[in-house]
Amino acid sequence: MTTAQETLVGNDVNLAAQLLGAGKLVAIPTETVYGLAANMFCEDAVNQIFSVKQRPATNPLIAHIHSVESLTGIVTDIPQKAAMLMQAFWPGPLTLLLPKNQQVPNVVTAGMPNVAVRMPNHPLTLALLKKVGFPLVAPSANPYTYISPTNALHVKKMLNGKIPYVLDGGPCTKGIESTIVGFKDGVPAMYRMGAINMEDIENVIGKITLAITEKAIAPGMHIKHYSPITPLVVSNNLEQDILKYRNHNIGVITYNSYTPLLPHEQQLLLSEDNDFKTAGANLYAAMHTMDGKGYDLIIARKFPQAGIGLALNDRLNRAKAT
Ligand code: TXA
Ligand code: MG
Repeated sequence: MTTAQETLVGNDVNLAAQLLGAGKLVAIPTETVYGLAANMFCEDAVNQIFSVKQRPATNPLIAHIHSVESLTGIVTDIPQKAAMLMQAFWPGPLTLLLPKNQQVPNVVTAGMPNVAVRMPNHPLTLALLKKVGFPLVAPSANPYTYISPTNALHVKKMLNGKIPYVLDGGPCTKGIESTIVGFKDGVPAMYRMGAINMEDIENVIGKITLAITEKAIAPGMHIKHYSPITPLVVSNNLEQDILKYRNHNIGVITYNSYTPLLPHEQQLLLSEDNDFKTAGANLYAAMHTMDGKGYDLIIARKFPQAGIGLALNDRLNRAKAT
C-alpha cells in the first residue's frame, strides 16, 4: 500500500524528466494552462491521467511535441493547410487534429482516428520535451469539470498527493486553452475556440467553419466544464443581476470596471486598462480565487462578443452550466 505523499513544486526539469521516464505523472507549465503530463507511449501512465482527473475515457488527450519533426513518429499525413498553421503559430496555443499512426495508443485518442497535437510555447516545457525524447500527452491539470489551473499553486491545491511533482513555470501568459483546428477532406474546421482567434487563423488559411464538439464528443456528455463549485451567473447586465440576487452574498468578476453597487473587496477586476488579453490571462485565476471565498454566488460580467471575448464567453457559459 502506498500512502499519498505531498506533491512537490519546483523548477527542476531533470527531476520532471526522470519521473516521466519512470511512468509517473508531472504537471507542466504551458502558455495556456497547466497540463497533467504523461509519456504518450506508456499506456499505464496515460491511464493514470484519466483516473487522477476522474475524466471519462471517451474524452481524448492532446499530445505535446517540441519539433515538427516529432510528428513523423505519430501522424500519417499533414494537410498543406495544417503545415501553414504550424508555420504561423507553433510554438503556440494551436492544437491540430491529424490522422494518427499505429504507434499512438488508442487510449490517447479515445479510439478516434485523429490525434490532437500541439507545440506549447513555454521554455521549461520545451526543454523538458527535448530531454525526455517522447511526446507528452497532457489535458488541463484539474479534476474533471473544474476550473483549469493557470499557476502551479492551482495545481497543487487541486491535485495534492495525487501526483509527485508540479514543474513550476510561473503564471500562464494566455490563461485560456489552445484553439483546436481539424480537417475533413482537407477542409479546415474549428473544434474549440481558444487563445488564437478565428480571424487570425483565417488570415493564414482562408475561411474555416465552426464545428464545436466539446459537448458532442461523447453523446450525452455533460456540457458543464471549467466550473467553480460556487454557483456562477454570467451577466449581460451586472447591476440588474446584483439587484436580482441582493439577498445573496455575491462575489463579482468584472473585466474592465467596478460596479458601484458592491464594495471593491467583493469584486475582481480582470484588466484595469480594458485589455482583453490581460483579462483572458486573469480569468481562471479570478474564478479560483472567488471560489475559495465562500460566496453564495459568483456573478461574472460577460465579455464583448469579439476577438478573444468569444472564447472567454464560451468558457463562462460552460462554467455556469448546471
Ligand atoms: O491549451 C491546451 O490545449 C491545454 C494545454 C495543457 O496544452 N490542454 C487542454 O487539454 O486543454 P484538455 O484535455 O483539457 O482538452 C482537450 C480537448 C478535449 O476535451 C477534446 O475536446 C479535444 O481536445 N480533443 C483531443 N483529442 C481529440 C481528437 N482526437 N479529436 C477531437 N477532439 C480532440
Ligand atoms: Mg480541460
